[in-house]
Amino acid sequence: MTRSLPLACVLAVSLLAGGMVACQRLWEDSPAIRVVLWRPESPAAWQEAIDSFKAQHPGLEVVLEIGPNSSTALHDLLTQKLRNRDPSVDVFVMDVIWQTEFAAAGWTLPLDERFSPEEREQFFPAMIEALTWGGHVHGVPLNTDAGLLYYRKDLLDKHGLEPPRTWPEMVRQVERIEVAQADPALAGYSAQLSQYEGLVCNLLEFVVSNGGRLDDPQDPRTIAALRFVRDEIVGKAAPEGVLTYDEQASLDLFRSGRAIFHRNWPYAWKVLQDPSTSSVAGKVGLARLPAFEGHEPASCLGGWSLGVHAASRRPDMAWAFARHMTSETVQRLFAVREGKAPARRSLYDDPEVLRSNPAFSGLRQALESAVPRPRSPLYPQISRAIQRFGHEAVGDDDSDLEALAQKAARRIARAEERLR
Ligand code: GLC
Repeated sequence: MTRSLPLACVLAVSLLAGGMVACQRLWEDSPAIRVVLWRPESPAAWQEAIDSFKAQHPGLEVVLEIGPNSSTALHDLLTQKLRNRDPSVDVFVMDVIWQTEFAAAGWTLPLDERFSPEEREQFFPAMIEALTWGGHVHGVPLNTDAGLLYYRKDLLDKHGLEPPRTWPEMVRQVERIEVAQADPALAGYSAQLSQYEGLVCNLLEFVVSNGGRLDDPQDPRTIAALRFVRDEIVGKAAPEGVLTYDEQASLDLFRSGRAIFHRNWPYAWKVLQDPSTSSVAGKVGLARLPAFEGHEPASCLGGWSLGVHAASRRPDMAWAFARHMTSETVQRLFAVREGKAPARRSLYDDPEVLRSNPAFSGLRQALESAVPRPRSPLYPQISRAIQRFGHEAVGDDDSDLEALAQKAARRIARAEERLR
């Protein structure tokens, strides 16, 4: 997918004094859109979507730069490029939590004139809201996300159990199945508690499903939920290693048949159904996440959009690309082939999409009522404070939760004060 240097350019470099300058101009003049993203779930589906874009724009190249899959690591790479107004970036993927920061920094091109209000209505309102800053829309939604509970249907059926409605019930089911199966390699729960953005999502789900708030660490309901994760999940229902798991590592444990329950985003369904990569294909059920007694389940709102770089030299082409990759046709392709939850509402009435993943029909409520993380241009600082606090709180048996919460509250308040 990368292009070779034009021949004339190679010659210019080797033959001419000042050849580099000539080379750079040639390079810049050859039409290409440069896109920064993570490694797609299905590179073939992305290639198909890109090829159909290129067929509509003959002579235009699309150059992909594949960054790290971790939201936190990709954020660091991208912010460095955007801060430098790096012209090698025209379009980039944005996690739902970065959008306010990027817009406030002036890194994303406002798209109001290109992305009409009628078009915006085709998407989930929460996604458009997350892209709106200062009255302007700063990107186009690619997919939405919400945390879900995957479970070993075969094991729950065997033991006469229904998917758990509360977290303590899940822990009891784990104990019961583990005792009966007597398999030391079988863990109870697999999720993402490594110190990165995924931890924020996982902890938000425990805390909010106990009536607490993640940006209010000192709320007794927040502390009680974290105490439960520390005492009942880490090193008990889940292996100690869960403190180092991201999406991939936690999914690997579950898809190799070594965990009973697993928290992940909708895309995992597709991976788990493929017998060439999953030893639990056909044995998995999907449900809403549990809650604490007396509370509603809470799924963290995730999702990604495409932003156009404010310093792009080809804003029209960049917009055309972003528009194509978020079109109904391409979102259908990504839903069916990558298992990504579409950000376009109409696709939830599309039989092909609904057939492809139970999350898109039965669990639509989880997708629509997902809980957003705090929205702020200084979200990275807030997230870092929550990550440090959360990892220490749930990772250390003897953690002094109240003292840690006090420190985290001070850090969050400091981040918020910087805005005033
Ligand atoms: C998913 C979500 C994203 C979240 C990330 C955390 O990619 O879509 O919003 O921040 O997971 O790991």
